[in-house]
Parts: sequence; C-alpha cells; structure tokens
Amino acid sequence: MRKGKVMLALLFSLLLVLPMANVWAGGQQDGAGAPAGEAAGGAVPQVKTDYGTPTGELEIFSWWAGDEGPALEALIELYNENNPQVEVINATVTGGSGVNAKAVLKTRMLGGDPPDSFQVHAGQELIGTWVAAERMLDLTPLFEDQGWMDVFPEDLVNLIGTENGIWSVPVNVHRSNVMWYMPANLEEWGVEAPESWDDFLAIADELEAQGVVPLSLATNWTVNHLWESVALSVLGADKYDALWNGEIDWTSPEAVEVWATLDQILDYVNTDFASLSWQQATDMVVEGDAAFNIMGDWAAGYMSTTLGLTPNVDYAWSASPGTEGVFMFLADSFGFPKGVKNPAAALAWLKACGSKAGQDTFNPLKGSISARTDTDLSKYNDYSKSAAEDFADNRIVGSLAHGVTANEGFMNDFATVMEMFLKSRNPEQAANAAQAIAIQNGIVSR
Ligand code: GAL
Repeated sequence: MRKGKVMLALLFSLLLVLPMANVWAGGQQDGAGAPAGEAAGGAVPQVKTDYGTPTGELEIFSWWAGDEGPALEALIELYNENNPQVEVINATVTGGSGVNAKAVLKTRMLGGDPPDSFQVHAGQELIGTWVAAERMLDLTPLFEDQGWMDVFPEDLVNLIGTENGIWSVPVNVHRSNVMWYMPANLEEWGVEAPESWDDFLAIADELEAQGVVPLSLATNWTVNHLWESVALSVLGADKYDALWNGEIDWTSPEAVEVWATLDQILDYVNTDFASLSWQQATDMVVEGDAAFNIMGDWAAGYMSTTLGLTPNVDYAWSASPGTEGVFMFLADSFGFPKGVKNPAAALAWLKACGSKAGQDTFNPLKGSISARTDTDLSKYNDYSKSAAEDFADNRIVGSLAHGVTANEGFMNDFATVMEMFLKSRNPEQAANAAQAIAIQNGIVSR
C-alpha cells in the first residue's frame, strides 16, 4: 500500500493547486444559526454524531439504476437490517457516469430540495462544485466518531477534504484504465491483447477482416473515458498530471498527439456508438461482436454480478494499452447536504457506507475495491484482488471523466469539445478548444 499512498499524496498535492472555479455559487443558505441537522457553532456547519433513532423515509440519490443497481441494493438491505424503522427511497436517475443524474441533482440542490444523501465523485466534482457552493455539511465529527481517520488512506481523505472540513464518505475505489476482452474469442481470432495503441492499430484491420469490431464504444461520455486512457498512454503519468496543474499546455505537441491517436482509434469502433449504453458496449465484447472495450471496472461488476461470468475464465482484462503500472483512480462517495429532511436516517446511511461491513458488501458486487485499508479480500473475486494489488503498487493518477481531476465546469465544457471533435476529427482544433476551456475553468492560468 505504501507506494500507492505516496502516489495518492502526489495526486492530492496536484489537486490542491486547482482553483475552485466555475461553481454554481447560488445564494448562501443556512448561514446563521444551526438549521435542523447541523451542529451549532463555528463558521462551517458540521454534522452531529447523534440525531436519535432513525425513522421515517430516507432518500438516497444516485445513478446506479437497473444493471448498475445490485451493489447499492445490497448495501440498502444491510442498512435496513440495522435500521428497520427507516423506509429507503432508492432514487436513481439512469445514465452511466451520472450524465443525467447530475443535471437533476443540480436542479434539486439549487431549488432547495436536496436528497438526504447523494452519490458524488471524490475530488474536484465534489470540492469544486457543492463544497465550493457551500451546500454540504462538514463530516469531520463523523469521521472522528467512527475512527475513519485510521482506516481510510490519509490521501483519500485529503481528496474529499479541504482546510475547512471533510465533505463525503468514500464507498469504493474504481479503476478507469482497464481493457476488457474474452480470452477464448481472442484465441479464435488469432490475436493477443495489445500492450500499446500501436499494437492495437496493427491488429485492428485483421479483426475487421474477420467481421469483428476492434473496439466497442458507447454513448459520448464513454469517448471521454476512452480519451483519458489514450491521454495517459500518449503522455505518460507525469505529463498527464501536468495537464491538470497547468504545467503543460493543452496545445503542446504531445497534447495534440492525444487527439491524433484518438482519431486513429475511432476508425475502428462501432459506428452506432452514440446510441449505446456502456453495458451494451460491454455486451458487444461478451457476445463476440467486438474484441475489446475500454471501461472502468464497474464493467467487471456487470460481467460478474449481472451476467454471471467468471473473471480469468470467461472474461479477462489488462491495463488499457500503454498504461501498465499506472492505476487511474476514481471513488464514489456520499455526502450530507445542508437542509436534508431526515438527518438521523442520513447519518445512519453514511455510517453504513463507511463501515467495513458496508464496503465489503457493496464492492464485491460493484467491481470496485473497498476504500478502507482493513478490507476482507477473501470476499472479492480474482479481478478485484488484482485491482487491489495494483492499487497498492501502481502509480496513481486521477480520472477526468469521473470527477477527480477537474471541476464540473471543465467536465461539461470538455464534453462539448469532444462532441465537436467527433464531428470534425480535427486534433489541432480540439486541442485549441481544450486549451480555451482549461483557461476558462482555471486549470491553465493566462
Ligand atoms: C462512474 C461511477 C461508477 C459507475 C460508472 C458507470 O462515474 O463512478 O460507479 O456507476 O460511472 O455509470
């Protein structure tokens, strides 16, 4: 774990220098006094560690609907065993990576109707948005009360914290840069998993000649997801990090090269990608219509939990081409917004999310690993065991597509740049546009 921790520390120090730009500042609410649910005193409202016995309804908001639901449902079941008087409203908005859920959440938060707890990525998505807009309670008292300072890696706590507090409870660690394939199919097609994008491009025509799509792709956010793996491969970990602390320009030759490489890769994806969900892109690999897919390890959760496949037997994986030894990380977490309807039930929910039992119930089904250092790995399958090993040994970098490295302003603008690129396929133009939004959102200063 030591090396992973050091790298997380580096990642954190990088994120510290990012300005908290482009938030929906909105009106300051709950400023004076201590509204229901908040401890009194201090400039920053804090969660209390006791609100009495939880009863009534608890609304949990996330994008873990349908196929993405089993892990959350298991955690809710555990919650209900310990809190039988609470009725959980599992409010989900379908759409991978929260594309739709985040928009609904924004409307609700700004309209003064926060859910009791909501899913949010650790990193800039949380800090640069809802924390900067002063919509969250500081959870430091809860972390101290539960002894979490000792069981969550310090650098992960730093990622969900600022000098004013700790703002969410991480429920997992996911890996973004993974390539999935079916070993039996590769054998039949006479190819091996590519170790670089050059290797991929070298076998792509061969696959196409056999009627196989070389790389399956889905709706537009998954292109951003692919982009970050390509960027890590073309730039390497140091320069990838340098993009986020403004040390290299988005118009530098190597940054243009990322788009140029993506352009070549896009020649070998399914043409109907924009209309597919990420699960459908996984299905293409599973069903033998495509050879590879780059997706976060929720795909392992989907293949193992929903499709009943066995890792290392039915499906296999490797780091996305050119990124071996680097773990591109993200973490889902749950926060406590100001002004919730049921603070007692929300507090109990956060306790369940952060508990060892909660994490070791949720993560084996989700494809992620526990965010706690005291996890019981015997509960996890071969894929997750290998992810845990890599998380301990690899260089750690943060995901753009899943909220770690940049605030939501940049993420939204980047999605627009990507849409433009998918039409123009012009690397220079995309690099210029990316530079403009990096300046606009405070990543590059000018
Ligand atoms: C990520 C999230 C994962 C998974 C994935 C696909 O942003 O962190 O837990 O839900 O989206 O929807």
